[in-house]
Amino acid sequence: MMTRIISQIFYGTLIHSLSLTKLSIIPNALLGIDKFGKIAFVEENITNEQNINDILSKWNINEEKIIRLTKRQFLIPGFVDTHIHAPQFPNAGTGLDLPLLEWLNKYTFPLEKSYSSLEFAKNVYPVVINNLLRNGTTTAVYFSTIHLESSKYLAKLIHEKGQRGFLGKVNMDRNCPNDYIETIESSIEDTKNFVEYVMNLDEKDMKDVKGDEESITNQVTRLVTPIITPRFAISCSSELLHSLSKLAQEYDLPIQSHLSENKDEIKFVKNLFPNLKDYTSVYEHHNLLNQKTIMAHGIYLSSDERNLIKNLKVGISHCPNSNFSLSSGICDVRKLLNDNIKVGLGTDISGGFGKSILDSIRNASVASKVIHFSNQNDDRDNNNKNSHLTLPELFYLSTMGGANLVNLENVIGNFEVGKEFDALLIDPESPQSPIDIFDYDDDNIERIFEKFIFLGDERNISRVYVQGNFVSGTEFK
Ligand code: GUN
Ligand code: FE
Repeated sequence: MMTRIISQIFYGTLIHSLSLTKLSIIPNALLGIDKFGKIAFVEENITNEQNINDILSKWNINEEKIIRLTKRQFLIPGFVDTHIHAPQFPNAGTGLDLPLLEWLNKYTFPLEKSYSSLEFAKNVYPVVINNLLRNGTTTAVYFSTIHLESSKYLAKLIHEKGQRGFLGKVNMDRNCPNDYIETIESSIEDTKNFVEYVMNLDEKDMKDVKGDEESITNQVTRLVTPIITPRFAISCSSELLHSLSKLAQEYDLPIQSHLSENKDEIKFVKNLFPNLKDYTSVYEHHNLLNQKTIMAHGIYLSSDERNLIKNLKVGISHCPNSNFSLSSGICDVRKLLNDNIKVGLGTDISGGFGKSILDSIRNASVASKVIHFSNQNDDRDNNNKNSHLTLPELFYLSTMGGANLVNLENVIGNFEVGKEFDALLIDPESPQSPIDIFDYDDDNIERIFEKFIFLGDERNISRVYVQGNFVSGTEFK
């Protein structure tokens, strides 16, 4: 007896990553989603109506539940932004004339301190989440500010709008302005308060599911998760770093911070921790590095540091727009991948000015080509041919790569049966589409997909789904 209830079916082309180098395009697929938002089945090469009808009757579904894609539309997994500062959104596209430490003092801290006012947060945060969802970011790993009330408000909003989110209240107790700093006591107390508040947000939804007879086999994951967020080694005392690591262990939470982004930053860290070998060792020394840790940037890592990162299974959030915009440097992602380090993409708003992961993909592509040229010019590396990132690799990083960083590789990132349906319905021919399709393109879906990745934008994202729920898109009312 078939008891599983199918709530939605898509018929059309699916595009997703099977591995770093393997992009899979599945035309004429039927994909079914159950009432928990999980992918119940994917049937390939269904080319006639009789086959469709057979599957519909097998699952006891009526025709109205099918969304039929046009020939040139396709579904892709939702994007994962593995590093974004929600409070910096008002500064996006401004103040990109200074390097990191000066930029923080002149532009970023003065804006972030405004979130001591909940009213200020209420003007900004809804815009941030709406923008990200519209741009296809189904999962975002956020920094907020040090402020408890504004951070709680942001968590509640992520939950209400149905995005998958990891949100950290920022911790910082030194080397920051007098009016934007915490004591270690308030930092820890507020973080505990924040963590418990966020853990309780999803509690009701989880209970609803638990009460259901099918719940034992159909547990869904929570959508909003707190993440422990020491801003970076410069702004946290050793004592604070130790306490935060204890907190992460106590609540079994992920951790995020910044690592090796800028040369002056690295020197500053060396001065603060003269007895520790390098920047990565500072976090390791404080027990902050494990398989649930995400470190943004990682541009100037030595081979020892890369080894440590690989062995401790830390993920690197590659933020190429920010790395260019703050003149930080260029991260050699190929080197990280060759070392088997987990990599995802991040916008790092407002160090980066692009809010879409499509922008991160494009900048990651350019960055990898620049690295490739500089390796070619360097005699020692001149056997390093064609080391730039390919389209399948870039797409993997933006979806599965991000899923790996947040330890949801078995839950999201592609369309494997059993995963939760976080997906985008892409329409390359939407009204006002920035993509031109010619007869020359025929119906070559691979070419059209590539055009979407390099030319497309939110106008092409008709529908955005998280855990099977329709949460945004140009068709969203
Ligand atoms: N390092 C410490 N804080 C920040 C920040 O807000 N943005 C970036 N890009 N790097 C940082
Ligand atoms: Fe950042």
